[in-house]
Amino acid sequence: MILVTGGAGFIGSNFVLDWLAGSGEPVVNVDKLTYAGNRANLAALEGDARHRFVQGDIGDRALMDSLLAEHRPRAIVNFAAESHVDRSIHGAEDFIATNIVGTFRLLEAARGYWAGLPADEKAAFRFLHVSTDEVYGTLSPDAPAFTEEHVYEPNSPYSASKAASDHLVRAWHHTHGLPVLTTNCSNNYGPDHFPEKLIPLMIVNALAGKPLPVYGDGQQVRDWLYVTDHCSAIRRVLQAGRVGQTYNVGGWNEKTNLAIVHTICDLLDELQPRADGQSYRAQIAHVTDRPGHDRRYAIDARKIERELGWRPAETFESGIRKTVAWYMANADWVRDVQSGAYCDWVATQYGAAGA
Ligand code: NAD
Ligand code: DAU
Repeated sequence: MILVTGGAGFIGSNFVLDWLAGSGEPVVNVDKLTYAGNRANLAALEGDARHRFVQGDIGDRALMDSLLAEHRPRAIVNFAAESHVDRSIHGAEDFIATNIVGTFRLLEAARGYWAGLPADEKAAFRFLHVSTDEVYGTLSPDAPAFTEEHVYEPNSPYSASKAASDHLVRAWHHTHGLPVLTTNCSNNYGPDHFPEKLIPLMIVNALAGKPLPVYGDGQQVRDWLYVTDHCSAIRRVLQAGRVGQTYNVGGWNEKTNLAIVHTICDLLDELQPRADGQSYRAQIAHVTDRPGHDRRYAIDARKIERELGWRPAETFESGIRKTVAWYMANADWVRDVQSGAYCDWVATQYGAAGA
């Protein structure tokens, strides 16, 4: 069996569902259930004996020790993190606590468990750390995409905390021999994405008749990857990645934020036209830019393709259409996550008008 952390969040829950759909291997899923964790993302696994959910913190050493001793996983896949850049600008404390201290404690628990395994299980064990392209900082318009050799230059409190966690993972391998793997992925999108992030926020705001808040000129570039492609990359790295290596994962799909928002508006114009006949583009509002906003991310994913034969399966056109359709069909999920705490965040970030 494997132990997954953060498996009630966006990517983690997609990973657990995908894993169990494609394999009979059980999963222990440890998630703190912060505002971003949602048991409803795992509703399809209700009553499935292959999935055990534990509400807990990766920084709780006693809990992690006891779960490892009880379940004896062959691998740990670490998704648990504070993940939203804008929240890290308003307050970085939770990012330091989970992304740095939590990863440290999880590494220590993994090291203690791994050291006590019999030789064959010890050799087969893996600690896979899920990280981000944001650790590399920002690219100028014509610069080559990030390779695994790119210098770490994190610019936000979030990316600095992820960079720190990557360094800890690396050090636990070099110093202690822990068999680690690290993936650095570009921007994901797809079902169950919390509507504080660009794509789901734009879809739910558009449908609610609210402003679509584009930071600054909207010409920042991100490299978008459909979430199940990220899941397949992680599975492949876990299966065949070389111990101690890092693998960049991306969609070969650079788009400006404004192009993304236009695409969403155009799809909604087709699928659910506004009653007044106007385009959803009329709702676009340029707002104050994010402080320290990275201008461009782009992933060079040739290493994972060359060594492990992985390439994304979804095109952006099919992925974004599926994503918009998912949000239209899951209004209850959207309503449930837009609780009081979500409204507080919207007011903090976008002001009383509540973008
Ligand atoms: P998310 O915010 O949707 O989910 C994070 C999950 O971790 C939540 O379920 C939350 O409850 C849980 N969690 C937080 N603190 C915890 C703790 N101390 N102990 C246990 N669980 C805790 O994030 P996501 O978008 O699914 O990202 C998952 C991972 O992938 C993160 O490590 C993130 O840095 C990385 N990543 C995300 C993207 C992206 O585009 N979303 C891209 C590359 C890498
Ligand atoms: O690159 C991988 C990273 O992608 C992950 O590590 C992070 O966890 C994930 O949150 C994401 O970070 P970004 O900052 O790129 O994603 P976000 O959806 O917050 O923003 C995407 C772009 O859209 C960014 O340039 C900021 C802009 N934006 C975002 C929001 C929420 C807007 O213009 N308006 C908005 O309201």
